[in-house]
Amino acid sequence: MSDENEKDPPSFRSAQWFGPADRNGFMHRSWMKNQGTPQRMFDGRPVIGICNTWSELTPCNGHFRQIAEHVKRGVIEAGGFPVEFPVMSLGETLLRPTAMLFRNLVSMDVEESIRANPIDGVVLLCGCDKTTPALVMGAASCDLPTIVVSGGPMLNGKFRGHDIGSGTSLFAMSEDVRAGKLSPEAFLDAEACMSRSAGHCMTMGTASTMACLVEALGLSLPQNGAIPAVDARRNTLANESGRRIVSMVREDLKLSKVLDRRSFENAIRINAAIGGSTNAIIHLLAIAGRIGVPLTLADFEAFGSAVPLLVDLLPSGRFLMEDFYYAGGLPAVWQALGDIVDGGAASVTGLSMGENNAGADCWNTEVIRTPENPVKPKAGIKVLRGNIAPDGAIIKPSAATPALMKHRGKAIVFEGLTDFRKRIDDPALDVDENSILVMRGVGLLGYPGMPEVGNMPLPRKLLERGIRDMVRISDARMSGTAYGTIVLHVAPEAAIGGPLALVQTGDIIELDVEAGRLHLDISEEEFARRQAEHKVAPAHPKGGYEQLFLQHVLQPDKGADFDFLVGCRGSAVADNAH
Ligand code: FES
Ligand code: MG
Repeated sequence: MSDENEKDPPSFRSAQWFGPADRNGFMHRSWMKNQGTPQRMFDGRPVIGICNTWSELTPCNGHFRQIAEHVKRGVIEAGGFPVEFPVMSLGETLLRPTAMLFRNLVSMDVEESIRANPIDGVVLLCGCDKTTPALVMGAASCDLPTIVVSGGPMLNGKFRGHDIGSGTSLFAMSEDVRAGKLSPEAFLDAEACMSRSAGHCMTMGTASTMACLVEALGLSLPQNGAIPAVDARRNTLANESGRRIVSMVREDLKLSKVLDRRSFENAIRINAAIGGSTNAIIHLLAIAGRIGVPLTLADFEAFGSAVPLLVDLLPSGRFLMEDFYYAGGLPAVWQALGDIVDGGAASVTGLSMGENNAGADCWNTEVIRTPENPVKPKAGIKVLRGNIAPDGAIIKPSAATPALMKHRGKAIVFEGLTDFRKRIDDPALDVDENSILVMRGVGLLGYPGMPEVGNMPLPRKLLERGIRDMVRISDARMSGTAYGTIVLHVAPEAAIGGPLALVQTGDIIELDVEAGRLHLDISEEEFARRQAEHKVAPAHPKGGYEQLFLQHVLQPDKGADFDFLVGCRGSAVADNAH
């Protein structure tokens, strides 16, 4: 629809600001005109907010001003009025103590920014890990028509004649440096070789996972998940998304009309098929909580664990996001899954997910396999339960060592990160490849913010002997780019008295991934005795945001949202006064 031919009735939300001829209407329009906005933009057309997480301190989102320009062009083409606004950005690499501490804060920024402003529909520009869930959570609590445009992954890393992947290859190379197999000079060289274009991590880490899951949820146009950041088609997708959001406003296609139970079940299945990040569990639970769709940790087991791993990407496989896009991207995965996904789920295109992806081709069956020839037959996240994880823990079997998935070993317990760093390379540490490394006090309240430290580096003396994996257990998270036989998100966490706090060095722990079991092998009497003696140390926040976080954050099996943020509060604002 062009703005010359057809006029929108002054019925959208923004008309409450820009419609009236009175003193307030003057104020709302006049100040906008200081940016050169002509009067015709206030004729009742849809106002589209472009929520931008651009920041030079979030290098993965460093190209977002350019993407926003392409969105704007699409909005204007379709007869809308684009308004770009910033929210706090979250970069994984620089933020201390961990970007996860701020996910809920950003979701509040997004929710309040949307609701408080004359916005009829929203385009969310998401990239680095936490920016996607934070923006979708905030938008879901407002429930306006919303579309996601991801920034896209970096080009494949290229180092000394072969491909290297964000995060994953860094972890491997740093272990090689510690084992004396790679020189510090080569390690420095690899920095520029790994991150050589705009975009986010190009492994199937959390950013790529969440970009794919946004597509699987129906919240973006097809191919949003995989197009590289610097491929011109990323800008085309931004333009098309800008056009589409204007129509979505006219159709009143709100988030709650797109997202339902089927959408989340599909996202869980797709996360298994792509070998997606364990962080997706926490983020999907939080998003579902905002939009009011019931979802539990057990659903990840029920819908994901039997799904085959089809996408052969680091950290679970071999290739990288560029290869994934050229092979057909998420539509090809959807097509390969056939009946495993529910094609009836809705999407922002106005068509069903099945219609969006019908006839999608796969151009490289090495990168995107078929269920008959999968990378691994059962890939989904496995939920573990037992006496040290009564509310559950998780493991990503596709990134684990098969031989360690059923294992009994002697625990070596570390009280947090500082203790771990101090002792792990101590030659006197009584550790061998059968030991189980346990770290606690690194959960949401313990650290705080639940950092990505669950993939604890192995003891140097074992690395030197060629050992590359051990069972590791913690109440932390791990980077989506990490790998290993790593049990994460143990709930409740030790800092609030979860029984992980009761484990002592020398205890035997049993892990049985197939059976979903994580068990501390001590007698019930001994367990009860330790529990009775255990004292929870009270937290002493210094005030500020950290205090809000510690008082209100839910455990990871509930999505780690703040208790008072769960739910949809809608877009209505009661009154207007200056
Ligand atoms: Fe930003 Fe990996 S550090 S996506
Ligand atoms: Mg991360």
